[in-house]
Amino acid sequence: MGVSYVPVAKAGEIGPGKTKAVELGGRRVLVAQVDGRYFAFARECPHEGADLETGELAGGKVRCNNHSYWYDLGTGECVMPKGGPQLTVLPVEEREGELCIRLEW
Ligand code: FES
Repeated sequence: MGVSYVPVAKAGEIGPGKTKAVELGGRRVLVAQVDGRYFAFARECPHEGADLETGELAGGKVRCNNHSYWYDLGTGECVMPKGGPQLTVLPVEEREGELCIRLEW
C-alpha cells in the first residue's frame, strides 16, 4: 500500500475556528482548525448535501446549518442525531510547515 501527502495549506494559514476550501481529486474538501487541531472533511453534508462551510465548529465537531446534525471530525460519526449518515473525514498532518492530507492507496 502506498501513502502520499497532499499539501493543502501553510501551517498557520487557517486560524482557530476557520476553514479553507480545497479540491482533492475533484472532491470538495474543507480543512479546519478547531480548538488547536486540524481536520479535513467532505464539504457536502452527507444528510442532504448542504455546504458545511457555513456550519459551526466546536469541540472537535461540525454542525450543519441546514438541519443541525453534528459530526465528529475525528471519526466522521454523526453524533446528533445518533446513527445519522457518516461524514467522510481525511487525516491531516503537519509536515515541514505545511498541512498535508494523508492519502493511502
Ligand atoms: S443537510 Fe446537513 S443536516 Fe441536513
